[in-house]
Amino acid sequence: MTLTLQNPLDMHLHLREGAMLDSVLPFTAQAFSAALVMPNLKTPITTTDLALAYKKQILESATKSGYTDFMPFMSIFLTPSLDKNELQKAKLNGIRILKLYPKGATTGSENGVSEILDDKTLEVFALAQKLGFILSIHGESNGFCMDREFEFLRVFKHIATNFPELRIIIEHMSDRRSLEVIESYENLYATLTLHHISMNLDDVCGGMLNPHHFCKPMLKTKKDQQALLQAALNAHPKVSFGSDSAPHLESAKLSPKGAAGIFSAPVLLPALAQLFEEHNKLENLQAFVSDRAFGIYGLDSANIPQKSVRLVREPSIVPSKINIPFHNMGDIVPLFADKILQWRLD
Ligand code: NCD
Ligand code: ZN
Repeated sequence: MTLTLQNPLDMHLHLREGAMLDSVLPFTAQAFSAALVMPNLKTPITTTDLALAYKKQILESATKSGYTDFMPFMSIFLTPSLDKNELQKAKLNGIRILKLYPKGATTGSENGVSEILDDKTLEVFALAQKLGFILSIHGESNGFCMDREFEFLRVFKHIATNFPELRIIIEHMSDRRSLEVIESYENLYATLTLHHISMNLDDVCGGMLNPHHFCKPMLKTKKDQQALLQAALNAHPKVSFGSDSAPHLESAKLSPKGAAGIFSAPVLLPALAQLFEEHNKLENLQAFVSDRAFGIYGLDSANIPQKSVRLVREPSIVPSKINIPFHNMGDIVPLFADKILQWRLD
């Protein structure tokens, strides 16, 4: 049995730089036509010039590994000092996504915004609305870790109400209470990861601690997982797939400072096919991994590489580790390492 997906899109992806980029990019470039690349590098992508240089780096890396049919969508990291002219310039250069991290909320968010609703940030939102940007937000407060997304919903509601023409994305939606909010506000949408629909907090610390399942936002309760899974299985009209695949070296994941992030790029489409098949919803996978994003982000298929991705229903084993050969840098442990998946990429 085979399954063909047309132009899969990953609308939330961390690719990093240098040797790490070279090692992780082929997994995405093989399976997706395009991906929205996050700007939280060590030197965050805060300007158009940085975004264009990063795009060039990604395209060169893809070409080196033989993929000339992959398109990175670039995003700009919103800092408190974002210059308004910079936004105009970004738009002229085809960049349409502005990414907001609350300061300190996650990996690489030290330069994020601490006063999200102050006048200066609201001015940026006003211009972003005028220019037709999409505002993607890592929506977490600094409260109790299981309630952070829920507590942040009031900020989403405030921005959505005050900027009705601005499309706003709740990135990596993790809390079932967020679903009601995207359903009640016309200009609010979400991305959903594989890990938040296939796992819950028990997979992090229900048995022995599993640091490879530690990510921001934290995996939540079984009820949250179930509600989010239903949204994915039914290809919820306001939800796009965004993996939040976030590679960290095994040494960083296992260190006492345990880095947050799950590296899911090597397993995404086979694992999603398995999950959708288990729930008799395979017919909705195309909409979840591609069609919804075309609508929500207003993408034009003429501008992205056309790709038919074939999956075969044959068991495949997920590698234990992905080695980064450069200077023996170390390994990255993928999601579902050593597990058998019922589908594989052709
Ligand atoms: C991401 C990373 O490592 O860059 N980590 C994560 O846990 N998801 C950052 C992010 O998207 O929060
Ligand atoms: Zn992320």
